[in-house]
Amino acid sequence: MIERPRGTRDFDPAAMAKHRQVEDALRRAAESFGFREIMTPTVEHLDLFTAKSGPGIIEELYAFKDKGGRDVALRPEFTASVIRFYLSELRSLPKPLKLYCLGNAFRYEEPQKGRYREFFQFNAEILGGASLEADAELLALALAALRHVGLRQTEARVGHIGMLRAFLREAGARQAAILHALDKKDFERLRAELAGAGLSRHEETLKTVVGLKGGLDVLDEAARLLGGDAAPAVDYLRRLRERLSHYGLADAVTFDLGVVRGLDYYTGMVFEIDSPNLGAEKQVGGGGGYTLAELLGGEPVASTGFAIGMDRVIPAAEAEGVRMSPPVLDAYVIPVGGPSRVAAMEIVRELRAAGFRVDTDLIGRGPSKNLDFANSVGARLAVILGEKELAAGKVSLKDMGTGEQTAVPAASLLAEVASRLGAR
Ligand code: HAM
Repeated sequence: MIERPRGTRDFDPAAMAKHRQVEDALRRAAESFGFREIMTPTVEHLDLFTAKSGPGIIEELYAFKDKGGRDVALRPEFTASVIRFYLSELRSLPKPLKLYCLGNAFRYEEPQKGRYREFFQFNAEILGGASLEADAELLALALAALRHVGLRQTEARVGHIGMLRAFLREAGARQAAILHALDKKDFERLRAELAGAGLSRHEETLKTVVGLKGGLDVLDEAARLLGGDAAPAVDYLRRLRERLSHYGLADAVTFDLGVVRGLDYYTGMVFEIDSPNLGAEKQVGGGGGYTLAELLGGEPVASTGFAIGMDRVIPAAEAEGVRMSPPVLDAYVIPVGGPSRVAAMEIVRELRAAGFRVDTDLIGRGPSKNLDFANSVGARLAVILGEKELAAGKVSLKDMGTGEQTAVPAASLLAEVASRLGAR
């Protein structure tokens, strides 16, 4: 037996139906905000990700040489690909550009519940918007998207990486390592990195700042602790909250100055959304304002984005009791006896052509086995073609939910199915 690679999953029809249901909800949310869908390749040149994704992701890359000896990698996320696409082909489109994409991404990490090597993201970016308005719009979409899925219990935490970057500007090349230590709340490493940068005096202040969480008062406290360098970022978050109030969302976010994010390209507002109903991997989404276009050789473009992890949103929704529809078959057509097979196929073709999801017996089962099968695949109706009935121009229509069975003139079957299921 060949097993699937570690950290990957197979999706059976029930799992796939949930996946598509959540995808559809996310897509509808994005489109209701005027975002348009794009797609980028699963495999990219390795350089795209080594430019600025941060050591976390680089260590986790699925990277290899292709047959032409080129260094390539499976995408660990979408943002770098979207910016590459923007710089090479989308630059001339009217701005702001509001783009979304959905698909798989790969990170070679230690698999555990909620953390996979192949996982699925819903990703949205706004490029070329005015920063504050774009950040608010993007946060509003992230919250609306989770609501569309049916989540009610998530917590959105918003911080500003610019605050810490300004405070740590003297750290130079060590800034990224210090931020990584803060992201992981690894205070031993933080101490070592600060010492290396000659900034040990900031240790206590930083630890206090990343522990600040709450309302507007938290911003006052940060301004006091970090001093003038942090003022623009603090002021930005105040204005962001004001802007969010225009969406009715001022109270939907908590300030959390410990949101640092694991990717290196963030420069502005940053946020993370958690579901309290998941285990250790409870972050269902995250994002923020970032600078990546310049690093990839282009001119600057205001950029803000986020991604939601499909593999976490689905169990989070289920934990909140969101109804997940199983795969559905509208009708299962059962010929009883050889001669009715031709008539059965006529009915199958007619119902399929009308847009219904229809299946029929392919292996010559008897009527009761066929009804069992119809039940097991979730058919809503069974159409049973007995020879005598057929001779009288009728078929039996069985409602698989109630068990009720009625004889219907074959000529009006389509109308009857449509009236029971709604036209498709
Ligand atoms: P990220 O925080 O690395 O951000 O990932 C976003 C979401 O993807 C996470 O919150 C989580 O739900 C899900 N996720 C990440 N890794 C895994 C994994 N191994 N298994 C299951 N789910 C996972 C980004 O990827 C950024 N590109 C978001 C962004 C877009 N920032 C700006 N634009």
